Amino acid sequence: MVMIVKKGTVPPTPHTEFYAIPKVLAREEIHGSYGFSGAWSRKVHVRFYPTEQVKPPRKGDFDLVPAFPPEADVLQPYHIFTGRMPSGDDAIRSRRPIVHGTRTTLSIAKPTESMPKDTFFRNGERHEVYFVQDGGGVVRSEYGDLPFRKDVYVAIPKGTTYRVDLTSPKAWFLVVESIYPINFAPHYFNKEGQATLMSPVVETEIETPELPKFKDERGEFPVDVKHGGGKITRIILGHHPFDLAGWEGALYPFVFDIKRHHGIAREIHTAPPMHQTFQSGNVPHSGFSLCSFVPVMAGWHPLEVPAPYAHFNVDSDELMFFCNPFYGARQGVVEEGSFTFHPGSTPHSPQGKAAERSLAARGKVQGRLAVMLDTYFESMRITTQGYAFRDPEYVLSWSENEPHAEAKGEGWESPSA
Ligand SMILES: [Fe+2]
Repeated sequence: MVMIVKKGTVPPTPHTEFYAIPKVLAREEIHGSYGFSGAWSRKVHVRFYPTEQVKPPRKGDFDLVPAFPPEADVLQPYHIFTGRMPSGDDAIRSRRPIVHGTRTTLSIAKPTESMPKDTFFRNGERHEVYFVQDGGGVVRSEYGDLPFRKDVYVAIPKGTTYRVDLTSPKAWFLVVESIYPINFAPHYFNKEGQATLMSPVVETEIETPELPKFKDERGEFPVDVKHGGGKITRIILGHHPFDLAGWEGALYPFVFDIKRHHGIAREIHTAPPMHQTFQSGNVPHSGFSLCSFVPVMAGWHPLEVPAPYAHFNVDSDELMFFCNPFYGARQGVVEEGSFTFHPGSTPHSPQGKAAERSLAARGKVQGRLAVMLDTYFESMRITTQGYAFRDPEYVLSWSENEPHAEAKGEGWESPSA
């Protein structure tokens, strides 16, 4: 048996293809980087053809098609309490789209159990990044086993056949889907794929799957495939889909810990591009930028105002998931798991005297943690499931007539976004 396992150290690249090669390659082992040998992955020594289905495909017994309330057509900022959404089921069946666009979808999943034994999922239409707000487990795919934990991103390329096993009683995911590959922002890297010296992310700080012994098993192995805008079709393979001895290439799932986004501080305000971790599509013409707001020192210039100014995005919808409530500019409004949706052309800012209070935050670090996504030329819509958990008073939360909790001491920090 030839065993070839390649775990690249560079992020996957666009224009992905996935080949299954049902033959043994005459190489004992492959060393070195394949990062730029091709933007694809190849299965090595697949025991059975992946086209083999033992029963006709059928409509899945669930779907992930978003629905929209009539109110979605009224332009306004939204605040969704995702922490108050219920838990239950597995990682896929508990997935609830909360905002949806033609190219991007954001969902919340709060599973309490692993996927049923020997069942699998494949997103056939969009690439995925999970942000793990809580819980832990293992994403098992044909690329191997990829453990995850709280506060990490799990990037899963479109077409990956996988299952999610929990190692905690429950988990909480923010799931980002894009029709485009989701990758580290390319301007952080040189043409050899190495992070430049000022990059806040480093390509060697990803975690890659460990390939276990191949599974040469016959039986019935259902794969629920997402396609056609959230429809699910169940196909049933007659062999275990992980019946490969190895893989090579530059396309694979990986984990990136949000704490490995190394924040950059300056004496004056640092704008969101320095918070960018991932991007998707042809930025800034399509797709999105995904930012990690990690703790950094606020600007320390004597005239610095750490609070952001009122602004709106001309070509972007701005989506923000608050991993904790330590956001001075919106203190008293957000809680853990708050998700704000600011459509382009709707301004936002700190409320009340937050800008004045922020002067005390110069040069101080706060324990904020948040994930932000800015779309490019794509209008998102709140879904019925997101609308059901909205903060009905949010659009009024900037009003001076609305009571807000006071910021606490040194806990203030600028959201920048
Ligand atoms: Fe903003």
